[in-house]
Amino acid sequence: MKNGTIWKDIDGNDIQAHGGCIIEHEGTYYWYGEHKGADNCPGTTRVDVIGVSCYSSKNLHDWKYEGLALESDKNDPESPLYYKKVLERPKVIYNEKNKNFVLWAHADSADYVYGGIAVAVSDTPVGPFKLLFAKQPNKQDSRDMTIYKDRDGVAYLAHSKDWNKTMNLSRLNDDYTDVDGFYVSILIDQEREAPAFFWHEGMYYMISSGCTGWDPNQALFARCEHFLGKWKLIDNPCRGEKMETTFDGQSAYIFEANDNFYLMLDHWHPNDLKTSGYSILKIDILPDNNLRVNWVDEWKGI
Ligand code: DGJ
Repeated sequence: MKNGTIWKDIDGNDIQAHGGCIIEHEGTYYWYGEHKGADNCPGTTRVDVIGVSCYSSKNLHDWKYEGLALESDKNDPESPLYYKKVLERPKVIYNEKNKNFVLWAHADSADYVYGGIAVAVSDTPVGPFKLLFAKQPNKQDSRDMTIYKDRDGVAYLAHSKDWNKTMNLSRLNDDYTDVDGFYVSILIDQEREAPAFFWHEGMYYMISSGCTGWDPNQALFARCEHFLGKWKLIDNPCRGEKMETTFDGQSAYIFEANDNFYLMLDHWHPNDLKTSGYSILKIDILPDNNLRVNWVDEWKGI
């Protein structure tokens, strides 16, 4: 699979899983993302919402399409899933207590003014997920977001707020189905979006992008010894041609496989979003707690 391009599933169809995440469950990897497999609405940089797609794989290379895990609503303009709205960056987390899967996504109005999240649940990884609600978490605006499960099993919604100026880490309830009211604000006024997290040997790391719409910009990594502590932006982790624009990509998620951490990127094509590409790049953690993401031309899986 050539990094930076759109990839094919095992049936030869384009993989439609943008802004997504990869999780592992019982020996199978599941990739969830935005299905953008339609033409842009004429003269715009939007594709009507189709839903959240799900793909499965054993080796992170050969992906089988499992269908739409969460489908848009074509009829009810009041529904958060109405196809004329926005549903982006879906993230799925497994809840050990309830033995179910919880999907969170950025749910917005077509003009991105509302700024909220949608939450849905399913007993199986492939869905169909059932929408619980959409809202503004802790009554604050929320645009780019991710879900991070800490080592103690407590999970958090990380979301850009105050029109992307600042980021909130908002704690979830035990069911992972809602925020529980506790949050901290980090990277205040730093204008970061597309956050992706991991933990390694006593340090939490976040890779994020700046805020330039669909256009690529420089990734930065931040780190902190405590998840709810004082996060600090450190440096651009990327190395190689186009390192100043995250290889013309934007962070989507970080997953762990075979004791390595991997960064998923989207390479957006705003004028034809369905052709937007993907990359998966290994993250190297240097002895001084700096990160390096080197460009490689191909993703070979594991
Ligand atoms: C940047 C975000 O990261 C994307 O998910 C998307 O919301 C675009 N902005 C829309 O311009």
